[in-house]
Amino acid sequence: MTNNEKVLVVDFGGQYNQLIARRVRECNVYCEIISYRAGIEAIRAAAPKGIIFTGGPNSVYLEDSPTMDPAVFELGIPVLGICYGSQLMMHLLGGHVCRAPEREYGKTLVHVDTKSPMFQDVNPDTICWMSHNDYIETPAPGFAVTAYTDNCPVAAVENQEKNLYAVQFHPEVLHTQEGKKMLHNFVYEVCGCKGDWKMDSFVERSVTALREKIGDGKVLCALSGGVDSSVAAAMLSKAVGNQLTCVFVDHGLLRKNEMEQVCEIFGGGEFEMNFICVDARQRYYDKLAGVEEPEKKRKIIGEEFVRIFEEEAKKIGRVDFLVQGTIYPDVVESGLGGESTVIKSHHNVGGLPDYVDFKEIVEPLRDLFKDEVRQAGRELGLPEYLVSRQPFPGPGLAVRIIGEVTPEKVAMVQDADAIWREEIAKAGLEGQLSQYFAALTNMRSVGVMGDERTYDYAIALRAVTTVDFMTAESAEIPWSVLQTVTSRIVNEVKHVNRVLYDCTGKPPATIEFE
Ligand code: XMP
Repeated sequence: MTNNEKVLVVDFGGQYNQLIARRVRECNVYCEIISYRAGIEAIRAAAPKGIIFTGGPNSVYLEDSPTMDPAVFELGIPVLGICYGSQLMMHLLGGHVCRAPEREYGKTLVHVDTKSPMFQDVNPDTICWMSHNDYIETPAPGFAVTAYTDNCPVAAVENQEKNLYAVQFHPEVLHTQEGKKMLHNFVYEVCGCKGDWKMDSFVERSVTALREKIGDGKVLCALSGGVDSSVAAAMLSKAVGNQLTCVFVDHGLLRKNEMEQVCEIFGGGEFEMNFICVDARQRYYDKLAGVEEPEKKRKIIGEEFVRIFEEEAKKIGRVDFLVQGTIYPDVVESGLGGESTVIKSHHNVGGLPDYVDFKEIVEPLRDLFKDEVRQAGRELGLPEYLVSRQPFPGPGLAVRIIGEVTPEKVAMVQDADAIWREEIAKAGLEGQLSQYFAALTNMRSVGVMGDERTYDYAIALRAVTTVDFMTAESAEIPWSVLQTVTSRIVNEVKHVNRVLYDCTGKPPATIEFE
């Protein structure tokens, strides 16, 4: 156990609640999230240096909206309310919140009072991200207005004496240009934190906690060769040494040559761990035959993974724990991230079957974002080529093949994807892209090749840039590269006669296709 100073994020159902926690961690201050349902007792027991109320989709003045005991403002602990959190603070303390005459959404110019501790060293006119239907019409007694916009007379308020602060905009998203500075100000100037937390303390703390939890038990780690599961495996290996066995499942939905590469890295003696590779290709193709619905595909894949791990565990004997490299975006989008809604069931979380024959599932990276996982990997001494690999989803190419999965379609995506990756590498674009791949649309269209009519599939190419994979931009790829890839794909990959480039960001799309 450590006695790091801590900031507590109280979750009222916003999509960005983990981003808030992450920004606080970036300030080297440990941060945890709890649901508002845990109530004031849990907050008091956690003894945080500061409290942040998140945004949320509700209206404070409606019955049954998430709320909090107003005594929280009397604990002597600084509180920052964000969006819904700001409105709730005002509502509970006697201000007035109502539907705004004009909804504000997107990047907005905000005029801030730089004398406020929150806005120290911030530009007086600064761009912030707004997303609200309601607004604070009248602040609560004792509060001073410290920011406004053209449409929102109360964009920030504070009561310095009581250490209560509230902002209508979202300082945690990168679109708020000086949001990091504002959160830094809250954590250091208002809460008085010193910044005693770093990623190495996370790794150390996790290794100690895992060692305690596992004791002399045996552990199976579901290893995909991707960044997340590799970091989880390295962490477990550090914690319990050869009590750990890593199982890699070839579900027939891997990228071209992936199985060989993973076996070489993990089975080749570079890492000291027990390593098993299971060839389950046919088993997956049989289970997926005729299945078109994305969520059903994910659930089948998730279930099959666990069944295979159970079988392998029986062969080893007495395995109590199953380790997965689940990270935070998997959790939140599977609808398990506290109060927010389901986007898709990531196989290693929401895709798990109801019954799992292990004493416990261990997910040591569950609170981290991708780039934080990479940082943890470096702390654990993993080689850079592994740590900086682009992500690959657990359900593999199944979520890059729209509709039914067949071995023939898998081969098409594998070949197109290999060409796309090869050309991106040749053009030297790898370092600028966060993730890039080919997907097979379920669309067939008419074409002409060598004077003959064709009726074949369209491949979609995707390339995105992102920091945390919660939001992403479609990347600008030079036209010449797209042309080369297109002509190679239609020439080299059978049954493909059209290549499309996906220009959509996230939101409104997701990075993967299903
Ligand atoms: P989406 O498509 O949700 O993807 O925007 C965000 C990031 O998560 C990866 N991803 C997954 N990873 N299991 C995983 O381990 C999954 O089921 C899964 N689905 C998406 C995706 O590749 C991207 O990096």
